Amino acid sequence: MRATTALLLRAEGFSVDEAGGGEEALALLAQRPYDLLLTDLKMEPMDGLALLKRALDGPTGLQVIVMTAYGSIETAVEAIRSGAYDYITKPFKDGELVYRVQKALERARLISTVDTFAGEFKERHGLSALVGKSAAMRELTTRISRVANSDATVLIEGESGTGKELVARAIHALSSRSKAPFVPVNCAAITESLLESELFGHARGAFTGAVKARRGLFEEAHGGSLFIDEVTETSGAFQSKLLRALQEHEVRRVGENTSITVDVRVVAASNRDIEQDVADKRFRQDLFYRLAVVTLKVPPLRDRLEDVPVLAAHFLERANARNRRPHRITQSAIEHLTGYSFPGNVRELENLVEQAAALAEGEELLPEDFPLKKQRGGTEASPIPFSPVGVATLADAVTEAERKAIQVALERLPDLGRVAEVLGVSTTTLWRKMKRLGLKTSQEPPPDA
Ligand SMILES: Nc1ncnc2c1ncn2[C@@H]1O[C@H](COP(=O)(O)OP(=O)(O)OP(=O)(O)O)[C@@H](O)[C@H]1O
Ligand SMILES: [Mg+2]
Repeated sequence: MRATTALLLRAEGFSVDEAGGGEEALALLAQRPYDLLLTDLKMEPMDGLALLKRALDGPTGLQVIVMTAYGSIETAVEAIRSGAYDYITKPFKDGELVYRVQKALERARLISTVDTFAGEFKERHGLSALVGKSAAMRELTTRISRVANSDATVLIEGESGTGKELVARAIHALSSRSKAPFVPVNCAAITESLLESELFGHARGAFTGAVKARRGLFEEAHGGSLFIDEVTETSGAFQSKLLRALQEHEVRRVGENTSITVDVRVVAASNRDIEQDVADKRFRQDLFYRLAVVTLKVPPLRDRLEDVPVLAAHFLERANARNRRPHRITQSAIEHLTGYSFPGNVRELENLVEQAAALAEGEELLPEDFPLKKQRGGTEASPIPFSPVGVATLADAVTEAERKAIQVALERLPDLGRVAEVLGVSTTTLWRKMKRLGLKTSQEPPPDA
């Protein structure tokens, strides 16, 4: 019965997981959010009613349909009283089941748009927070669920705004450590000396101002995951200490002689070409190998523009729930957006949608509600682009500075080899950057590019 029902629903395009009993179902429900639970009532050892009650204790938004045998209408009524959305009497026709499932899912969808708790549940549960249907995103989510259950250190690479932190959170949420803390630290945001005491803690009186002993973030993350963001923005000395902590599974507070054992899964991220940093001796190679046991690359949005419509819908849904003034995005606006290169990646799209939702007059969002920055490309040096609210992101400023430097060098030097030499990068890096910036040259690419 279960197998054929699942088969039927899958054939209708639903994504279905099967559980052989109540306990198994509850275990699945705890792993990720579901829209619908379809259960029989007569089961052993946990019956359908008990399952229903426990399932509804969980996340909001879950709909339940119970299946009852002909003649046991009382239990069906009891199920409805206990919070089931609907019941269906066996034997039933395929069409009837599909119809009821569709109705229940419609309701689930309605609830999840208005219910911010459901949103939070999704955030907590990782993968579903990662919106995207491109092949690249699907591959990424598959890899995330595969690595989540190991304790392997993961290095996440990707341009700014591609969703690296979301990926890190998903890994944690899907891992057996999900009940312990996820502790993020951004190495670029704190000074070198502070970073060390932040991460490793310090003894009382270790330095001026250290009036109390303090646990470091490694200790805070004990049993859970530590997310080390922008890991390339650290000194060699710091990198050595980090390497030691990873190798020995212990940390030593600043100003302390003894070490403390920590059980922490480390996930690191970088928006730089970290291998290039290793080649340039800006980043310790041994630490790189330690961190990059598994490497996940988050592709830039311009390489998966088919994700733009679903992402825009996702951000709009969120904005609508918050603004209480629903907007609809028009097809022409979607087309306008999918023709753009998104130098600021998903974050830029998110900001565009939020702004449009906050500022647009009418109910429909039109192309002009999404003012885009000038597209990249050509040989003319464009000024640092400014967003409508008057500030450029740091990433944009850096990109523009790189573009200018490369253009000037290209104009003045005879070949790519010289350009690379003068700019202090390898020809491969130079070529990659030029491709990304849309800079053209008549010269041949290097053989290994
Ligand atoms: N696939 C996605 N689905 C839904 N939201 C996304 C997705 N990718 C990114 N976002 C959203 O875009 C914003 C940027 O994501 P995130 O902070 O994870 O990027 P990042 O790669 O860490 O960027 P940075 O390098 O600048 O720190 C966040 O608000 C995040 O929620
Ligand atoms: Mg980040």
